[in-house]
Amino acid sequence: MKSFAFERRWFLRQLGWGVAAAGGMGTWLRLAAAASDSPPVPVYRYTPVKPGTLDELALSPGFEFQVVISWGTKINNDGESFGFNNDFLAFFPTNAENTEGILWVNHESAHPLFVSGKSHKKGTARNRDDVIKEQKAVGGSLIKINCVDGKWNFVANDKFNRRIDGTTPIPIASDRPIFGRTTAIGTLGNCAGGVTPWGTVLTCEENYHDFVGEVTFDKKGQRQRVAQLSKLGWESVFDLPPEHYGWVVEVEPKTGLAKKLTALGRFAHEGATPRLAPDGRCVVYMGDDAHDECVYKFISHQAGSLERGELFVANVEKGRWVSLSYQKNPEIKKMFKDATEALIRTREAAHAAGGSRLARPEDIEVHPQTGAVYIALTNNPKSGDLHGRILKLEEKDNNPLSLEFKISTFLEGGLAAGLSAPDNLAFDSEGQLWVTNDMSDQVQGQGEFKVLGHNGLFVVPTAGDFAGRPFQIASAPVDAELTGPCFSPDGKYLFLSVQHPGARSSGLDQLTSHWPGGGQTLPRPSVVAIKLPTVPTK
Ligand code: FEO
Ligand code: CA
Ligand code: CA
Ligand code: CA
Repeated sequence: MKSFAFERRWFLRQLGWGVAAAGGMGTWLRLAAAASDSPPVPVYRYTPVKPGTLDELALSPGFEFQVVISWGTKINNDGESFGFNNDFLAFFPTNAENTEGILWVNHESAHPLFVSGKSHKKGTARNRDDVIKEQKAVGGSLIKINCVDGKWNFVANDKFNRRIDGTTPIPIASDRPIFGRTTAIGTLGNCAGGVTPWGTVLTCEENYHDFVGEVTFDKKGQRQRVAQLSKLGWESVFDLPPEHYGWVVEVEPKTGLAKKLTALGRFAHEGATPRLAPDGRCVVYMGDDAHDECVYKFISHQAGSLERGELFVANVEKGRWVSLSYQKNPEIKKMFKDATEALIRTREAAHAAGGSRLARPEDIEVHPQTGAVYIALTNNPKSGDLHGRILKLEEKDNNPLSLEFKISTFLEGGLAAGLSAPDNLAFDSEGQLWVTNDMSDQVQGQGEFKVLGHNGLFVVPTAGDFAGRPFQIASAPVDAELTGPCFSPDGKYLFLSVQHPGARSSGLDQLTSHWPGGGQTLPRPSVVAIKLPTVPTK
């Protein structure tokens, strides 16, 4: 049971008062009384939900949700079904009223217990069928949805319903073949993403090493497979070179045509956030979600294509974007045999060029009004950074093409903020920042993290009295993480992924979650549509 002191701290924090302001209940009463005589303390527009401990998707008062689609739902007559662990979402309207459209859904991972029935212990033997089951659970889904009487429905067997998964052949857009090939088998580890100004999806391959392992290169550039098997060990069954993964993949939502964009570099791509430059070229911001890795910016050579362009890494100490171009940066030219090699080994190039090593850069979003770039750094426990933060990067002259910037902390994660490990970001049309967090299985509910409850969804004003203060709007079911926040075009609904409920289950007879079905059902990662309350704005 929570203590009264905790309840009070939580209440004060959610009202926007710091814990330090609360000397005792009397202090709060005096503050409240004072507020009635003098200018009232502004209360933010949404009443926050408490950090959750139950197996439910709990929402702030006035918010409602419904499940749109869950893992395993058959999507078409070709025998394809909705994948596992849904993440990034993007909505492409197909009518003028925006009441129907194609939803792109990333599927980041496949929990073996549910997908192939294998143990998720590293080194567990898999046969061909086991791997194919897991391959078919990742990648992405394109599904038709529509809104009827205020309810979003999945439209079964629609012509747009298709899967791009871990078995789909995908061309590699590159100067030369990679590991002797021009086509990769499948896409995997699809975490966050973005939408280009020309209406295609960018889906990002993050923890590819968990599926197919990794390669290293010695001083002479000789390639070596890391001997230890990956978590899922697909490489023990199929010939899947790690160099074919860790890319940003561009997908055309109406046709499903896909290509791997090598010009944007290869690393644990969290997301890719496009932004139009004044001259029509496309700029893409990207984070490499690993401990002590970097933030990148890509500037396309031409409007309407990301196949060619210049990649930069952020040096936050100097406030500069440093070019990783093989042609322009002599150090890079010395290190690698050609431009493709420099892209395959982006991390090595970035470190050599002085890229700043940050605390797991996750999602990045551009403020719709100010143009400031918000960057989630999730945490870095190895260096004592337990809770992470959100940075605000302002390009010089607010020009996306600028090579200089200013950087500051917008929000410091922690117990006082009530938010730890920020991950996905989304702006609404008013410029409120919506944040989901990803506390790891190891810390969630443990020690000092206990007061933070389950993972959640938060709204953070970016201007006014409450700028930089998170207010919790949703709390996830047991073991789950909320991901992929995506607003409907009218801003009335938020599509959201509920990823990995029951992830810590040790067996099908020892499930930690039964969400969303309840009873004794299997937990199922699902996409929900959250209806926002109609409330007066301040
Ligand atoms: Fe897949 Fe970095 O979260
Ligand atoms: Ca993420
Ligand atoms: Ca985002
Ligand atoms: Ca994460």
